[in-house]
Amino acid sequence: MRLTVIGTGYLGAVHAACMADLGHDVLGVDTDTAKIEALAAGRPPFHEPGLGEVLSRNVDAGRLRFSTSLAEAAEFGDVHFVCVGTPQRPGSNAADLRHVDAVVDGLAPHLHREALVVGKSTVPVGTAARLAARIAELAPGGGDVELAWNPEFLREGFAVQDTLHPDRLVVGVTSEKAAATLRAVYAPILESDETPWICTDLATAELVKVSANAFLATKISFINAIADVCDAAGADVTTLATAIGHDARIGSRFLSAGLGFGGGCLPKDIRAFMARAQELGVHDALGFLREVDEINMRRRRRTVELAREMVGGTFLGTNIAVLGAAFKPDSDDVRDSPALNVAATIQLQGRRSACTIPRPWRTPVLCSRPWTTRPTSRRPASTPTWCCTSPSGSSTGSSIRSPWPRSLATRGCSTVATPCRRRPGARRGGRSVRWVGVPAEVRPATA
Ligand SMILES: NC(=O)c1ccc[n+]([C@@H]2O[C@H](COP(=O)([O-])OP(=O)(O)OC[C@H]3O[C@@H](n4cnc5c(N)ncnc54)[C@H](O)[C@@H]3O)[C@@H](O)[C@H]2O)c1
Repeated sequence: MRLTVIGTGYLGAVHAACMADLGHDVLGVDTDTAKIEALAAGRPPFHEPGLGEVLSRNVDAGRLRFSTSLAEAAEFGDVHFVCVGTPQRPGSNAADLRHVDAVVDGLAPHLHREALVVGKSTVPVGTAARLAARIAELAPGGGDVELAWNPEFLREGFAVQDTLHPDRLVVGVTSEKAAATLRAVYAPILESDETPWICTDLATAELVKVSANAFLATKISFINAIADVCDAAGADVTTLATAIGHDARIGSRFLSAGLGFGGGCLPKDIRAFMARAQELGVHDALGFLREVDEINMRRRRRTVELAREMVGGTFLGTNIAVLGAAFKPDSDDVRDSPALNVAATIQLQGRRSACTIPRPWRTPVLCSRPWTTRPTSRRPASTPTWCCTSPSGSSTGSSIRSPWPRSLATRGCSTVATPCRRRPGARRGGRSVRWVGVPAEVRPATA
C-alpha cells in the first residue's frame, strides 16, 4: 500500500521506517527540513536502537522517501498517518493541538480521491470526531475521505521492536471499510504475531491511550510514595517492590522506586487527561491524577534534598555530576527529563557546577563547568566528589542497568547515589566509589 507518515519525530520516523519494512511504499513528511534531510539520507535524527538499520535498509530499497510537502503526500498516499506532537499547552494543563489541526487543515484540501487519514498522536477524547467533521468540510474527495484513530503504545528505546511486534493494535473507526484498510496495513503483523486486534469507536480508541498512560503513571507514583514511607520507617522499598510484584494482579513492571517519570508523554498526557475531564464535567473522577503528578514532582525535590544532605548540607564548593540527561535509558529524549530538572536545581543552589553525563553521549549538552557532556572532547577540569545518578528505570520501571557506575569508577568519583536509598549493606563497597542505593548486581565487578 502507499502510506504517508506526517510528523517524523520519535513516533513518526520509527513508524515510517517500520511500515516500509513491512513492504509498504512510504512517504514521510515533516516541516523540519533538517530532520527530513537526515532521514532521506538514511540517518536517524535522534537515538533509537535499531532505527538506523531499518531506515537505511528501506531508503536504499526505494520503499521509503521523505518530503516536506503535504500536497505531495495527498497525491501519493492512500492512508495518511498523523504523528505530529501534542505537547502541553503553555500556561495550561491541556494538550496543544495546533500541530494536529495544522496537518488536517493543510492536507484535507488536497485529498481529491479516496483516502483514510489515521491519527496516531495522543489526543484528548473528542478530538477525532472534531477532526472528522473538519475533513468532511475541507476535503474535495467528500465522503471518500475518512478518519480513523490508531493510538500508539511504543516505548522509546524499544520503538522498532514495539512497532513491528506490538502487544496490541487498537483502532477507532466509523466504517467497516476503514477497519478493513487498517487491517490490510497491519496484515504482516497480524498474520505473524497473532497480535490482539481491538476495533472500536473513535472516542474509545482515544481514551485507551490516555487511560493506559494514566495507569502507568499511577503505578510509578504509587511505588514512589511507598518509598517515602519505607525511608521514614527504615524499610527497603526494593525488596518490598519485589515482594508485591510477585502477585500477578500487581506485577513487577513499572514498580521500581526512583526519580519518577518524565519524557514527552506521561507528564503531559496525565495533565491533558485531567483538563479534558474537567471540560467534560467529570474532573472529580480524575482527581487522583493530581496527586500522581505531585508525588512525581516531589521525587525530584527529594533527590536534591538527599544529595544536599550527603554533601554536608550545602552544595557550595562541591562538584556534582548528575548521571543521565535523557528521561530513560537508550534514548536521547530530554523532554521533561527529571535528571535535567535535578541538575538545574542543584546548580541553582550550588552556584557552581551541576553536570550531566548523558547516555547516549551525544545527548545535547546541559551544562557546565567542569565537565562537558562529551567525554571525548575534554578531560574534566577537576574530579567530582559526589555524584547523583538518576535511576535508569525512572519511567520504565526497570532497575539500574547502565554503565554509568563503571565509567564513574574510572573517573575517580567518590560517591554514587540514587533517590532510593538505604538498601542495607549498599552504603559502602567501592574502592574509589561509595555506593548508596545502587544495587550490587549493577555495580562493577571490582566494587
Ligand atoms: N514518543 C513516544 O514514545 C510516543 C509514544 C506514543 C505516542 N506518542 C505520541 O505521538 C505524538 C508525537 O510524539 P513524538 O514523540 O514523535 O513527538 P516529536 O516532537 O518527536 O515529533 C513530532 C514531529 O512532528 C513534526 N511536525 C509538527 N508540526 C508539523 C506539521 N504541521 N506537519 C508535519 N510535521 C509536523 C515536528 O517537526 C516533529 O518532527 C504525540 O502525540 C505523542 O504523545 C509518542
